[in-house]
Amino acid sequence: MAINQSTAAAVTGVQGPESVPVSLSVNGSTYVVELEPRVSLLDALREHLDLTGSKKGCDQGTCGACTVWQDGRRVLACLTLAMTAEGHEISTIEGVAQDGELHPMQQAFIDHDAFQCGYCTPGQIMSAIALIREGNATTDADIAEHMSGNLCRCQAYPNIHAAIREVRDADDDGDGGR
Ligand code: FES
Ligand code: FES
Repeated sequence: MAINQSTAAAVTGVQGPESVPVSLSVNGSTYVVELEPRVSLLDALREHLDLTGSKKGCDQGTCGACTVWQDGRRVLACLTLAMTAEGHEISTIEGVAQDGELHPMQQAFIDHDAFQCGYCTPGQIMSAIALIREGNATTDADIAEHMSGNLCRCQAYPNIHAAIREVRDADDDGDGGR
């Protein structure tokens, strides 16, 4: 006897493999998109929500280009299934500037010439802000260690670290610079 998808889901709790509605809260807006359960959060952001700021470098969790925040914590969007982001607040680089003003970390990256090709930059900035909030930017060694998941093929590390130090030193309430 054939069992349709919704019946199967009700019986087993399993959804898919066909597309299912997924509700995503991103940068304060809610989106409902039809996604196959295998779709990563990164692909959902880039290909379904047209939020292409988060970059796909390796697509296997080794470069950090896709770093976003889930409930304020850094996650790799390429290793996160979009479905599992339901019920959480996702923040991307598109949500970091406010009221037309760059986030201090974005401005510091510009001021310190902290990017060359810029491909890694959105992930670097998302990590850099979170790093300060986490209390992991106290020393140069801390910064190097806790940014080590964000690779920069242009080797802009000294400038990236200088930008982080500047924002850290100006940040009096530990919120990452704003
Ligand atoms: S694209 Fe996700 S870690 Fe490289
Ligand atoms: S600025 Fe080119 S990869 Fe980082």
